[in-house]
Amino acid sequence: LGQPCIDIAKLPKETGAFTYDNGFTATASCKSAVTYIDGDAGVLLYRGYPIEQLAQHSSFLEVAYLLMNGELPSKGEFDKFEHEVTHHTMMHEAFRTFLYGFRHDAHPMAMLTGMLGSLASFYHNDLDLEDPEQRRLAAIRLIAKVPTIAAACYRYSIGWPIRYPRNNLEYTTRFLHMLKEVPSEPLELSPVAAKAMDLLFILHADHEQNASTSTVRLVGSTGANPYVSVAAGVAALWGPAHGGANEAVLKMLEEIGRPENVGSAVAKAKDKESGFRLMGFGHRVYKNFDPRAKIIREMTHKVLGELGVNDPLLEVAMKLEEAALKDEYFVQRKLYPNVDFYSGIIYKALGIPVEMFTVMFAIARTAGWVAHWLEQQNDPENKIGRPRQIYIGSPQRDYVEFGKR
Ligand code: ACO
Repeated sequence: LGQPCIDIAKLPKETGAFTYDNGFTATASCKSAVTYIDGDAGVLLYRGYPIEQLAQHSSFLEVAYLLMNGELPSKGEFDKFEHEVTHHTMMHEAFRTFLYGFRHDAHPMAMLTGMLGSLASFYHNDLDLEDPEQRRLAAIRLIAKVPTIAAACYRYSIGWPIRYPRNNLEYTTRFLHMLKEVPSEPLELSPVAAKAMDLLFILHADHEQNASTSTVRLVGSTGANPYVSVAAGVAALWGPAHGGANEAVLKMLEEIGRPENVGSAVAKAKDKESGFRLMGFGHRVYKNFDPRAKIIREMTHKVLGELGVNDPLLEVAMKLEEAALKDEYFVQRKLYPNVDFYSGIIYKALGIPVEMFTVMFAIARTAGWVAHWLEQQNDPENKIGRPRQIYIGSPQRDYVEFGKR
């Protein structure tokens, strides 16, 4: 820790002892029954169900129900949930005015953060956080409205008219229609595209106490409403070390440009002085493989094959994957491709604009954020989150007047 600037022995006794855990690598902030990860074994369970089984048999909306409620729904429970989510997909018309205040070229993540925070101004006054039914309704509103808001942010950013949600469609397809439909050109969605999108939403739905979920819980721990808690989660997700990685992967692949440049990119990533990292490689928890990456890797090939996409960037991606997996530096540090290495490639193949990649992640992760927020609100042990610090600043000193400094 270097030299403490104060004599710790002279601190008052009640200061107590605490650990310095930079990045919280060894500190549990809560007890949770939502998601289990064994990073060494590459295991990911939502409410006890292996991600591989959910990816194969479930749908995103069913997974959202599972995360929120702890059990898979009966058919009747699922239909009711789907009906409720569908019922809440519309945005308040006043939202348009708010949206139109953003610069036309604002990043959709910037708009999404602001728009979600503003949901509180529409629903907060009526919200009694003591009432479990109202908490559940707030969670449903978020799951329902986030895709509508996300699509509106994107359409505004490219100057297209906002689309109302088509409530006869299911969750993922409804979102794609709002995002992509051009009045003169009705969107043809292939079943593989819809399945790939739903699969990505399932894989991104939750990941226990990652930076954005921890942010949601930290804000939620103060008793703040769920809309601003989730807006804070969106802000945390945006960083390239977290959800922003999928956009960063695509930008990196574009910069590498050609398969023959892969070798120098890998060399640059190994050179600490360069400050360059291979985006989409490495994970704080998974140190052998990311089970989501394994599932999505297969889907990537399927999508590209079935949609007949022949993207040169894919060749760069596959070369990069191959080179890094063989490289001593990456092997020693257990740096494997993570889910975001592949998600960007799929989104690109589906025609999703690059600046929407992290927004896509946010839509899916909303299911996890609200599940954690609900769990926290029900937790009798919930305390305001308040980390400690190691002070490394100046010792106590006296104020000096201007002219004497
Ligand atoms: N490229 C090159 N070197 C890397 C990379 C990378 N992508 N990731 C880690 N390293 C190196 C570090 O320089 C460090 O080397 P050292 O031990 O010689 O100093 C070592 O591997 C460990 O790295 P840390 O940063 O300590 O690992 P940490 O667990 O804190 O970070 C993280 C994990 C943030 C994901 C990191 O691997 C990274 O920046 N990856 C690229 C960004 C990315 O893909 N993020 C998405 C994460 S997944 C998600 O959010 C869904």
